Amino acid sequence: MEKVELEALLQSLSVPEKVHQLVQLNGNFFSVKEEIATGPSAKIGMDSSVVHQVGSILNTFGAKNLKELQKRYMEQHEHHIPMLFMADIINGYRTVFPISLALGCSFDEALVKRTAQIAAQEASVSGIHVTFSPMVDVVRDARWGRVMESYGEDTYLNCLFAKAMVEGYQQEEHNVFACVKHFAGYGAPLGGREYNTVELGERSLREHYLPSYKAAVDAGCHLVMTSFNTIDGIPATANRWLLDDVLRKEWGFQGTVISDHSAVKELIPHGVAKDEKEAAKLAFTAGCDIDMMTSIYANHIEELLAEGSISMAQLDDACRRVLALKNELGLFENPYRFADEAKEKQVQLCKEYRDFACEVVTKTCVLLQNNNQVLPLAKDKNIALVGPYAQERGLYGMWSFTTDPNTVVTLEEGFLSIAKDAHIYTAQGASFLDRAEDIPFFGKVDATLTTDNREQLCQEAIEAATKSDVIICALGEHAQQSGEGGARASLTISDGQMYLLKEMRKLGKPVIVLLFSGRPLQVDEIEANCDALLQCWFPGIEGGNGIAKLIYGEANPSGRLVMSFPYRVGQCPIFYNHLNTGRPALTSTHSQRFTSRYIDTPNGPQHCFGYGLSYSEFIYENITLDHATMKKDEKLHVLVDVTNVSDTAGIETVQLYLRDVCASIARPVKELKGVQKVNLAPHEKKTVTFTIREDMLRFVNRDMKYVSEPGEFIIYIGKNSEDTLSTNFTLV
Ligand code: BGC
Ligand code: BGC
Repeated sequence: MEKVELEALLQSLSVPEKVHQLVQLNGNFFSVKEEIATGPSAKIGMDSSVVHQVGSILNTFGAKNLKELQKRYMEQHEHHIPMLFMADIINGYRTVFPISLALGCSFDEALVKRTAQIAAQEASVSGIHVTFSPMVDVVRDARWGRVMESYGEDTYLNCLFAKAMVEGYQQEEHNVFACVKHFAGYGAPLGGREYNTVELGERSLREHYLPSYKAAVDAGCHLVMTSFNTIDGIPATANRWLLDDVLRKEWGFQGTVISDHSAVKELIPHGVAKDEKEAAKLAFTAGCDIDMMTSIYANHIEELLAEGSISMAQLDDACRRVLALKNELGLFENPYRFADEAKEKQVQLCKEYRDFACEVVTKTCVLLQNNNQVLPLAKDKNIALVGPYAQERGLYGMWSFTTDPNTVVTLEEGFLSIAKDAHIYTAQGASFLDRAEDIPFFGKVDATLTTDNREQLCQEAIEAATKSDVIICALGEHAQQSGEGGARASLTISDGQMYLLKEMRKLGKPVIVLLFSGRPLQVDEIEANCDALLQCWFPGIEGGNGIAKLIYGEANPSGRLVMSFPYRVGQCPIFYNHLNTGRPALTSTHSQRFTSRYIDTPNGPQHCFGYGLSYSEFIYENITLDHATMKKDEKLHVLVDVTNVSDTAGIETVQLYLRDVCASIARPVKELKGVQKVNLAPHEKKTVTFTIREDMLRFVNRDMKYVSEPGEFIIYIGKNSEDTLSTNFTLV
């Protein structure tokens, strides 16, 4: 539709019709024949006549279903405006990939972009227009359950993947529009507790947390979702500074802002709105266009307009943005867009996508320990595959509503398809949880996740192990222990699983642990009781195949951690790019007692950011710089030799970090500024070159300006954030 036509349409709408475009409900409101007194609209206090006027629907799926909904909706809509379908497509639609935290561990933009392209292809033919992704909240605290949706603790990587995901979703063919979330700072709740207060100074917010959302905006992301938390006391959903000054004015964002689920209503318990009307006013005037899943805009915007608290121009702006979104999607010309039942059958879960998903698994698992090179395994070894994940199909994490468990390849299936000549003895060995109430989910507890008979389960595993050469323990958190509402104050597997592992260890055979989780867990005790540990995250539907390939050496692990693994939960938040403090433990001149340290735990993590082993062995030598000084308009080149000193071909993730030694504000001890993935044949050496530009040296200075300051910089290059070579230069 031409702009003038769209404007004419907008002007032809009544005030309630404009308001209704700003309301989003879920499919339950439409799919059931509503009981007026008890139905979903009664529950949220909305007049049921409004339901059929609202502008968008969330989390309803399927081409046939959505086409019918669209048809019915448009027929009864006075102006035949099409409906918008939005959904949480986070790590794949039907072809479900590893969770985002795992995808981050690939350190591979092109790979991650391809996952978004496939998700868009599959979701668009099912009728979805917008996905609530990417989630690029920087996360430093493993207690928070939603770290699984993020790309980890580093800002540079979150920016890279924000761009890759937006570009992938918003590809030319069969695209969906992206909605970056959760704006802003939702990844820093105090104590890691879900929905908790966020305390970030503006500088830290701008420097570490905002850039990833901005990277999505710069990549053309059409929507932004507000977050549940407060920023300096003001909830993000009512934060005009954030939504208007920063997002729209500074960054030039022209798209649509949507609240998170019920966030407008939550302004009341936050204590900034005395009632629903005030909540509507605060969120709307701050710049939140769409109210997700409450009746507050529907019930109060008209009144606010009538009394002059908001203007018609403001209402028009918000409604125009929603209509423009529909128009950019082409819905006025084709309201069904790509929705197509035949295409659903043809493209979803096709072999090409599944094969790719399997490759992604091999590139996102992280090998944390491999004593005496117990891995990879020979295919003729008889194995005992024990633990609650041995035959589990729930390998896709919390944010995959659309996954059909029957499409998931279990570990047992994956192992069987590769180790055809070996015996695989499978036993559950332990239950997921010690107590069913450990994961109340949607108010329910699942008693099948616990056992009354730990010894009996373990005994079955012992029998399997006795017949085998190698023991593989498939352990971890249950998928519902992470994700939204999955905050934990401990980072351990269940006692029952640890008991199983220790019993297996006693048998004196090689023990390999496959660890599934949505967050870094505390792995010291696990590592002490096994020879090899592969961190598998939630690997998605091809999990069993991808992991089996790694275990048997058909693929070589190349994943690297994007979150630090603490020794103890008490170290959280823990991240590699911290400040030095005035009394750094290693270099302070004070006595050890009076330095910045714990007396009962090391300061650093058990496994640092960037860490991960391979079946190859890489060494770094000869770091050299082409100049020792650099002017602002110049570039420096830093070179390093990387050699594969093993007989196995592999991929090394070469990481570049910088440190600004002295500046007008304290700067992190190290910050990732570049990554190169290098393929190395056995005994091959390559020289890797990074270019250093002035913009890589910038930070938010004392005056809140994003600039570089002259002085000394240290360059670190290495295989992870701790194991590096270094050199330095001066910016003049
Ligand atoms: C989550 C969002 C999600 C939304 C819609 C909220 O609870 O915080 O990430 O997009 O629900 O499902
Ligand atoms: C302490 C202060 C104390 C000062 C003088 C410092 O180490 O932090 O609390 O007053 O020494 O003893």
